[in-house]
Amino acid sequence: MSNQCDGSGSKFLSVLAGNRVDPPPIWMMRQAGRYLDEYRATRAQAGDFLSLCYSPELAAEVTLQPIRRFGFDAAILFSDILVIPHALGQGLRFAQGEGPRLPPIDDLSGLATLKPDQAMDHLAPVFSTVRHICSGLKAEGFENTPLIGFCGAPWTVATYMVEGQGSKDQGHTRARAYASDGFFEALIDMLVDVSAAYLIEQVNAGTKALQIFDSWAGSLSPEQFDRWVITPTREMVRRIRAVHPDVPIIGFPRGAGWTLAKFVEETGVNAVSIDTSVPPHVVDGLLPKSVAVQGNLDPMLLIAGGDALNRAVDAVCEAFQDRPHIFNLGHGITPTAPVDHVHQMINRLRARG
Ligand code: CP3
Repeated sequence: MSNQCDGSGSKFLSVLAGNRVDPPPIWMMRQAGRYLDEYRATRAQAGDFLSLCYSPELAAEVTLQPIRRFGFDAAILFSDILVIPHALGQGLRFAQGEGPRLPPIDDLSGLATLKPDQAMDHLAPVFSTVRHICSGLKAEGFENTPLIGFCGAPWTVATYMVEGQGSKDQGHTRARAYASDGFFEALIDMLVDVSAAYLIEQVNAGTKALQIFDSWAGSLSPEQFDRWVITPTREMVRRIRAVHPDVPIIGFPRGAGWTLAKFVEETGVNAVSIDTSVPPHVVDGLLPKSVAVQGNLDPMLLIAGGDALNRAVDAVCEAFQDRPHIFNLGHGITPTAPVDHVHQMINRLRARG
């Protein structure tokens, strides 16, 4: 049996089911990444980042590295949100030191060049990675460590497809989203279809929870946030639940701020990941106590270390002490974070009773 990482004794899944666990379970966004020597070695072996994403053995290996080193309470599939545009046939490369580059698509004729019917075949190596990770977790004694699957939310993925790269304010995409030529709506509909099918297949292959990354949710006006963040996410949740009613889904609408409550209520996600910009103590006023939250240590504290890190770990725990809480960062760990500081954070957290 390959897809056995049921995580039945998992603190992480218990919190997602609405229980309070002390000390809180922990994992980190980008926990498999360049701050780890062993990641850099495996990435060099793969050649480039995308080859690593599409190599089931090597992608499974880097997924397991932070679990072996730190004993995190959840593993996250190693891949990238941009495999979806790639699977649709849009060119994608990761230029060294520059981030992702895609030939921009910003009209209906560009959209017509995409091939949604072929996307799932293209993504088959990712499902194979999920099966490899599950058997690896079991073989190495981590059968209680569940695997999280993920994808980018339609809005955030669309910004990369339309801009052709990461951008400061997603201005061109926001302008295209206001136009009434049917392009942006059709793009989002396509992304909802493919992304929901992709997450359903990840669960079929063995993932036990899902996270939807909406890294640029904060750049939209309130009305546009409803239209391009809440509505597509709600539709994805509906489709996933129709097939897998019990799989917990975590939303990460980065920058959503005070609209977090509306996001949780209207999308139907089980839990929400809180970014660094939200003061933890205001969350209680925004979200019902029953809602599980994940977060939200500033990744820069993992550069700083020392007392500042200890105090911040305590402050995050105290702010979320009356609700189901999964300890995490407010955004991904950065490449220069010292591994010793990650140990320090975990020790500080686990020393709390
Ligand atoms: O969290 C994890 O450990 C799982 C793996 C994961 C990666 N990217 C690996 C990665 C996840 C969940 C992502 C999500 C992702 N990718 C997002 C959403 C979350 C966020 O960070 O806002 C976005 C916007 C992307 C797109 C992306 N991928 C960018 C902009 C870059 C370049 C920036 C950089 O850090 O170099 C990537 C590359 C990438 N994705 C790396 C990793 C480990 C670094 C690639 C390398 O090895 O050089």
